[in-house]
Amino acid sequence: PEVISVRELAEKMGEDPNKLISDLIALGKFVTINQAIDFETVSKLVEKYGKVAKLEGAEEESEALLEKELEETEDRPEDLKPRPPVVTVMGHVDHGKTTLLDYIRNTKVAEREAGGITQHIGASVVEVETSEGKKKITFLDTPGHEAFTAMRARGAQITDIAILVVAADDGVMPQTIEAINHAQAAGVPIIVAINKIDKPGANPDRVKQELTQHGLIPEDWGGTTIMVPVSAKTGEGVDELLEMIALQAELMELKANPNKKARGVVLEAKLDKQRGPVATLLIQSGTLKVGDPIVAGLYSGKIRAMFDDKGKPVKEAGPSMAVEILGLEDVPLAGDKFYVVKDEKTARKIAEKRQELARESALEKEKRVSLEDLFAQI
Ligand code: GTP
Ligand code: MG
Repeated sequence: PEVISVRELAEKMGEDPNKLISDLIALGKFVTINQAIDFETVSKLVEKYGKVAKLEGAEEESEALLEKELEETEDRPEDLKPRPPVVTVMGHVDHGKTTLLDYIRNTKVAEREAGGITQHIGASVVEVETSEGKKKITFLDTPGHEAFTAMRARGAQITDIAILVVAADDGVMPQTIEAINHAQAAGVPIIVAINKIDKPGANPDRVKQELTQHGLIPEDWGGTTIMVPVSAKTGEGVDELLEMIALQAELMELKANPNKKARGVVLEAKLDKQRGPVATLLIQSGTLKVGDPIVAGLYSGKIRAMFDDKGKPVKEAGPSMAVEILGLEDVPLAGDKFYVVKDEKTARKIAEKRQELARESALEKEKRVSLEDLFAQI
């Protein structure tokens, strides 16, 4: 686009407009004094005079453009399509969360975990048979160990429904209460799975009693919380639990627009020696495709390859799906948001800007810390 007329430029430079016109002819541009010329031409022209052309307000403009790129546009109601529920399994350490998911997806993950302790958020997409037909559910497994509060909080924030697993032989424990608090803070409905009912010491009524003290009153006692006795070992009650999840999801009428650029959240990310940065993403809206330019936290990239929760390569994935992706320049943080943007250049610009801001705020923090230190010394 044209940015300035030859006359205005000549005035700004303090040169004779006719001289500029002949310079422009030398550059292959035939223009009159009142004609406007584009920025690239202006740049070439002023270079001959040892000057550098700069667009006024260009800096702010490009930042505004970048921000516009990340703005969420309102979906029209007709664009919203039903999506599977995202269900997070929470609860105290060793109460059987991973074993329950193993039973549901017919895997043996719990047995392979170091010390039998889950240390990350694992995602799996399961198709379950309900009285309403086949339904997909995306499950997120969280750790119950007290060290992983942040992961439980994150799990609660990105989920539609929380499954609170409480072992019937152990009852309500500190991380059971913590999980209730996270789910309630996030405004997420809780379904309780009273687990390990196959064990001799199991006492489901005691669990119900204890939960009542934390504001969860079972339906059969006149409250509103669904509590299903299950055994992750024998599978007893698991079908009923799945049915309850499907029912709850149905009530929530969960929807998302699949026909737009994807956005969502990083569940976890690591550096793989062979494959480079690898990230597990939960897609919250839109459809993610191989080749998409992306920003995740501070980093940009282009989706080079994508795998579903079973490790199978996929070309695209829609709302509520969890996928592993390759192609980021560096490792984002778990919990970072990701966005697909219009091209790689834009992705890079946004990432650079964010890195710059991150560096600045780190510097700020450093400054503040040293000031405090100073006061401490006085
Ligand atoms: P973290 O992820 O570390 O918080 O533990 P978790 O809640 O995932 O527990 P996990 O599934 O690893 O199970 C802990 C232990 O309980 C394992 O030895 C399981 O075999 C056992 N277990 C889980 N569910 C049941 C059950 O329903 N009945 C019996 N008898 N044992 C179970
Ligand atoms: Mg576990």
